[in-house]
Amino acid sequence: MIRVDDVCKHFGGLKAVDHVSLEIAEGSITGLIGPNGAGKTTLFNTIAGLYAPTSGHVYLDDEDITGLRPHQLFNKGLLRTFQIAHEFSRLSVVENLMMVPAGQSGENLINAWFRRQQVAREEEKIHQRAQEVIDFLNLGHVANEIAGNLSGGQKKLLELGRTMMVDAKVVFLDEVGAGVNRSLLREIGDAIIKLNQEKNYTFCMIEHDMDFIGRMCDPVICMAEGAVLAEGTADEVKNNEEVIEAYLGRGLKNKEAMA
Ligand SMILES: Nc1ncnc2c1ncn2[C@@H]1O[C@H](COP(=O)(O)OP(=O)(O)OP(=O)(O)O)[C@@H](O)[C@H]1O
Ligand SMILES: [Mg+2]
Repeated sequence: MIRVDDVCKHFGGLKAVDHVSLEIAEGSITGLIGPNGAGKTTLFNTIAGLYAPTSGHVYLDDEDITGLRPHQLFNKGLLRTFQIAHEFSRLSVVENLMMVPAGQSGENLINAWFRRQQVAREEEKIHQRAQEVIDFLNLGHVANEIAGNLSGGQKKLLELGRTMMVDAKVVFLDEVGAGVNRSLLREIGDAIIKLNQEKNYTFCMIEHDMDFIGRMCDPVICMAEGAVLAEGTADEVKNNEEVIEAYLGRGLKNKEAMA
């Protein structure tokens, strides 16, 4: 579904992503791991249109999407979760979800004046969808709560919910599990698996928690120092010599720095 072909993203002399080639298979939940600073987020940002790559190409279903802007990718069904923006923190959970769908006729002033009925019908449809998403994610008890008042984990569920308001094909999740308690992490994991199985979403997720990765992801790709080190099942990657070296090497450097 996604093919990354020899992509580089350099920041001045720093090769954050250096000649990365990989594929994300349709229907998979692909894991992306690697030590801090490996280039995982930069790779995501390059795929999802936040950065244009220094060189190389990205394909979605064989279409070259290199350099397309995030909203153009959004319209093609390629989404990455983002933190709930400041201005949205004052809106309720339902309202946050209703903000997502693109091309609502209510946004158009002429429509707002002259086609009220159509706008009302459309809004009703979007409201229904928001309710379905809220049910799907078990967020009913906080549906009318201001998003800014949600817990960190509930905000992550809401972020995931925003990807469900449109027909996403492939969703990029950057550390959705970070700082989330065990039981909520399980819920987020279940929601991701359900979306994958029932709605056929393809996922690529960056995560540091190897248990979570092991439960969720096949295959797992490991990056270090801007390059792909290994790919395989979670167990294969976890036991890969170079992967162990990459994680330990950094630990040793840290120890040296502390000595
Ligand atoms: N906008 C930027 N400008 C300059 N350097 C950057 C920028 N973004 C990232 N980097 C550098 O690129 C390298 C890779 O960073 P990146 O955020 O992609 O790592 P990561 O694998 O996501 O790490 P972590 O697991 O800590 O989130 C780092 O050395 C970082 O300092
Ligand atoms: Mg990162």
